[in-house]
Amino acid sequence: MCGIVGYIGNKNCVPILINGLKRLEYRGYDSAGIGIVNNGHSDVIKRKGKVSILEKDIEKLNLNSNLGIAHTRWATHGVPNETNAHPHFNSDKSIFVIHNGIIENYQTLRKGLQKFGYQFITQTDSEVIPHLIDSFIKQGYNLFNAVRASLGELEGTYGLAIIYSKEPDKLVVARKGSPLVLGVGDGENFVASDVSAIIAHTKQVVYLEDGEVVEVFKDHFVTKNLDEDGEIEKEVHQISMTLDELDKGGYQHFMLKEIMEQPDSVCNSMRGRILFDEGTAKLGGLENVAKQLAESKRIIISACGTSWHSGMVGEYMLEQFARIPTEVEYASEFRYRNPIVNKDDAILFISQSGETADTLAALREAKIRGALCLGICNVVGSSIARETHGGVYTHAGPEIGVASTKAFTSQLIVLALITLLIARKRDMSLVDGQAIVKELEMLPDKISKILKMNKQIEEIAGKFKDAKNFLYLGRGYNFPVALEGALKLKEISYIHAEGYPAAEMKHGPIALIDDNMPAVFIAPKDSTYEKIISNIEEVRARKGRIIAIASEDDDSIDRLVDYSIKIPDTIRMLMPVLTVIPLQLLAYHIAVKKGLNVDQPRNLAKSVTVE
Ligand code: AGP
Ligand code: GLU
Repeated sequence: MCGIVGYIGNKNCVPILINGLKRLEYRGYDSAGIGIVNNGHSDVIKRKGKVSILEKDIEKLNLNSNLGIAHTRWATHGVPNETNAHPHFNSDKSIFVIHNGIIENYQTLRKGLQKFGYQFITQTDSEVIPHLIDSFIKQGYNLFNAVRASLGELEGTYGLAIIYSKEPDKLVVARKGSPLVLGVGDGENFVASDVSAIIAHTKQVVYLEDGEVVEVFKDHFVTKNLDEDGEIEKEVHQISMTLDELDKGGYQHFMLKEIMEQPDSVCNSMRGRILFDEGTAKLGGLENVAKQLAESKRIIISACGTSWHSGMVGEYMLEQFARIPTEVEYASEFRYRNPIVNKDDAILFISQSGETADTLAALREAKIRGALCLGICNVVGSSIARETHGGVYTHAGPEIGVASTKAFTSQLIVLALITLLIARKRDMSLVDGQAIVKELEMLPDKISKILKMNKQIEEIAGKFKDAKNFLYLGRGYNFPVALEGALKLKEISYIHAEGYPAAEMKHGPIALIDDNMPAVFIAPKDSTYEKIISNIEEVRARKGRIIAIASEDDDSIDRLVDYSIKIPDTIRMLMPVLTVIPLQLLAYHIAVKKGLNVDQPRNLAKSVTVE
């Protein structure tokens, strides 16, 4: 995935680039590097590990330059070491390239270039790019045309920023499949993987589209297509995100801040979207397609990771209330298994970042097949948000912690609103619609109540931090929550955890239960309560240690379990918004107690922009 940032203007670019990289570190933190061009002279500094390591070493060098690019890496090809860090360069270090994506045909290109004497020093796919550009410059091309000619040879995906010491008045950037935005300043311009890296300097941004190549000068920029010469007019957008929204706000970690923000983020996802008198939802981004959506014969939900889990809850909601057959697909599987997509299908793509490569690729495939494609995204202006026929923003605010928390609950709210909208256009009664709306409005207070149990959950976490495995079990709407709870724990505490439908336990996983195996049961008082109590008894009989997420008025569960976390009730479809909160806190505290880096867990990145 990687984070890219670049600057051209009159200021010293070094602190601007380093601060930009820090904002982008959620995209990767295997290594960081910076390349600058100053008076025809170029410099590159790279370090393994986090941006702070690069920053320390750079401070000693007192570098000063008005043109530079920088990169924080999430390795796909080649181990994360200093050599493989970006920028990559040609043999005389006049061309520097930073890359986000994967060059699929790099082996062939590499062999071809080696025949012409080009020497490779890294194991990365990206290194072919500076050498290719070099080979075109040697044939008489200027930088811009050499980049365009090189891109014609590349297969795969890229977000690229390139500088060349012999053309020090510009940087060249290009996009295919990886996000890239330009920041337009006064006598200075920026480029970045996302706006968080540049909002300290400008709020005017231009979103690049796939196939566009841009020559960025300090006071203007020229956008062209890969293979056409006419200039493309680009719209400049004004963004509203503030720097405060990106800070930790006094919390030790972004993840905890984001968990604690959920009363507000959930509220923001509903704000202005509820019509109580009509017992329905008003969703501006679906207005033009609402009729078609309500009449669709089938709904497919496509997403990855946590967003896939919210999609599973969405399936339950849509089938129960809208009565439209719904399927949930991993985006990565959807694209490659030649799915049956009909013109009267609607496909919902759920993505916090709106940039997940698997989800974006599935969206593009579905569009070719003529389905109505809709997005549920958090990041405004992201690729999925722009490329869908309509959609709904979750408005959860920036999510920086790699483990998704508030984005998940906001996705659930938006799915509930979409369900309400469709169901009311079909056969849901006004009274039933109003009952759901009422429950939705009560959620923020109920979440606040659960968050007050933070201390209690922290204590429970202390008892389980050394467990090697965990089982998460839930039924119905809470089965996807079991999956989500297990994913949270795996991601940040590196404890192996599995989520199962509680009734499936007896078909296999029960063999794992002994006195070392903790089982987390999501057991609120709903129609499956009696059944889940039997499942709890089954674990108890095998001496498993049990944590239960239970209803606040459930006094009888305590005699069956080791620890219980009592939460308020709501209607079944909205229960996941509440039951997931203790699981987020449990995973968080276990990881903190293990001394792990909660916001930047190993091997992961926030936004997975490679397939
Ligand atoms: C969630 O905690 C994960 N980090 C991950 O599974 C994530 O949900 C997935 O990569 C999808 O991301 P998206 O919502 O930005 O598309
Ligand atoms: N493929 C490049 C590398 O491994 C970039 C990786 C990415 O964008 O995730 O360095």
